[in-house]
Amino acid sequence: MRLDRALANSGYGSRSEIRKLIRLGQVTVAGEVIRDPAFPLGGPAAETVRISGQERLLHDHLTVMLNKPAGCVTAMEDSRLPTVADLLPPAWVRTGLVPVGRLDRDTTGLLLLTNDGTLNHRLASPRWGVWKIYRFRYDGPEWTPGDVAAFAAGLTLPDGRRLKPARLVPRSGGVADLMLHEGKFHQVKRMVRTCGREVTRLHRHTFGPLTLDENLAAGASRLLTADETKALRAAVQMDEPAGGS
Ligand code: URA
Repeated sequence: MRLDRALANSGYGSRSEIRKLIRLGQVTVAGEVIRDPAFPLGGPAAETVRISGQERLLHDHLTVMLNKPAGCVTAMEDSRLPTVADLLPPAWVRTGLVPVGRLDRDTTGLLLLTNDGTLNHRLASPRWGVWKIYRFRYDGPEWTPGDVAAFAAGLTLPDGRRLKPARLVPRSGGVADLMLHEGKFHQVKRMVRTCGREVTRLHRHTFGPLTLDENLAAGASRLLTADETKALRAAVQMDEPAGGS
């Protein structure tokens, strides 16, 4: 792949920004300054690329972990409301990131975004059974062993929809954790309401093998590390691409 495209696809700037850096002699490949934006790269991870002296990993695809704050919608654009895209560097957004599933506007925590369509599809599909763990605060009576058993057996919503087994773990002080491997619309809130309680705060801290990075403040994001990407892909049985991702 051409140098300028590989760097733009990896989220380091727009094609024109990258070309400018290349022409200014700011980009090296395997230690050599390259001034030709069309310079052919051997493939991701085949050569060390540096921009202004800093090593830059090349990705076939970009996957981002965002600590979603309350108040923004899980969409890349919206005519009225702030979106998760507003929180990300524009160079990442331009690579075609799409949220993996959806968190409600008032829900906080771990949201993944990726421009890898297959990965996105598998992570969001109940077929692959990726667990998500939510911590929630609720109003209503304390949970009983009977409630825990009902979640484990699979609840039926008032509209007749039968849900897959889920794990409810009551904590003290009006807090509980819920592990799910589905992602239906308002699922946690509807499950809790079906059992006579009301969610007052909802936060997702785990998505499959990934836990929200505690160094990410609300609204902050980072690219997944190579190990995290590998674990995520393994969770949905995607083979590693030849040159890594
Ligand atoms: N379940 C919900 O009810 N809301 C979310 O944002 C996520 C899961």
